[in-house]
Amino acid sequence: MSYPGRYPATRLRRNRANDAIRALTAETGLTTDDLIWPVFVTEGAGVRQPVPSMPGVDRLSVDNVVEAALAAQKLGIRALALFPYTNPDLRDDIGSESVNPDNLVCRAVRAVRAACPDLILICDVALDPYTSHGHDGLIRDGQIINDETVDALVRQALVQAEAGCDTLAPSDMMDGRIGAIRAALDDSGRTDVRIMSYAAKYASCFYGPFREAVGSSSTLIGDKRTYQMDPANSDEALREVEMDLAEGADMVMVKPGMPYLDIVRRVKERFHVPTFAYQVSGEYAMLRTAFDNGILDRQRGILESLLCFKRAGADGVLTYFAMDAARILNKG
Ligand code: PBG
Repeated sequence: MSYPGRYPATRLRRNRANDAIRALTAETGLTTDDLIWPVFVTEGAGVRQPVPSMPGVDRLSVDNVVEAALAAQKLGIRALALFPYTNPDLRDDIGSESVNPDNLVCRAVRAVRAACPDLILICDVALDPYTSHGHDGLIRDGQIINDETVDALVRQALVQAEAGCDTLAPSDMMDGRIGAIRAALDDSGRTDVRIMSYAAKYASCFYGPFREAVGSSSTLIGDKRTYQMDPANSDEALREVEMDLAEGADMVMVKPGMPYLDIVRRVKERFHVPTFAYQVSGEYAMLRTAFDNGILDRQRGILESLLCFKRAGADGVLTYFAMDAARILNKG
């Protein structure tokens, strides 16, 4: 229940009078503990390759990912999410490279794990960086086939867990994949590996720059609306989350972020479980473009956009601004 204040006895501005009282009465806050930094990995050594649609974001070779992870840790960031740019020659219609224990993301995980034993390492479970058609699943007769895809995702998940990934993040939106991955992990003795489910993931145009970063935009045939959610829906997000939790998800994610804060709020209020939001590539690109053109203030824009996720109920945020935000937060 809210406090039944009445003017003039009640004046809400009294609690906004200065920094000290604002800090004391703040309902939420943002710290480096809330940040998950998505990093793009590419082949080679000493490589730092700008992603044109995401100014300030580079694809890094494994050695540079290790450097980046160490730098992130120094700034207080505790979690990285790794995304591979798979060499086009290695992409095929069934995403075979996803189950190669020596694929790019597995090599990155092993290298970062060796250098940063305490860092949380999140890997996407989905076929899109590995398929020639850019879809997250297998295709038969022009349709994404659910159950066969789930079998492939299970194999991918086990390979990533074996490499040292502690948090698997299925981002494919197939039905039943969380339960299948949980069962396979448990059967192989990996009860320690957790699952962060992309539970409410919408079919969004805001993923455009990411698809350029992982090299799937030029190859993607059609769209992902038969598996990712319709932006018109909100009750359906609760069903997705409910099912993923029942199947064994340890935490859930809503994606995209800023246009979907209502979903974050509903999920948190209903389930009271660790809930994350992804400030996706298109949101980054929009904000960054506004900063670079002097339209929005950079520091305040970054902090406000991230704090809003916390207020909406998120426990943490995947954001390409993680390093910038950490630097700003550390300056106090
Ligand atoms: C792939 C995946 C996508 C993102 C994360 N994992 C793209 C997609 O589903 O097409 C988007 C992240 C972003 O836009 O920053 N399954």
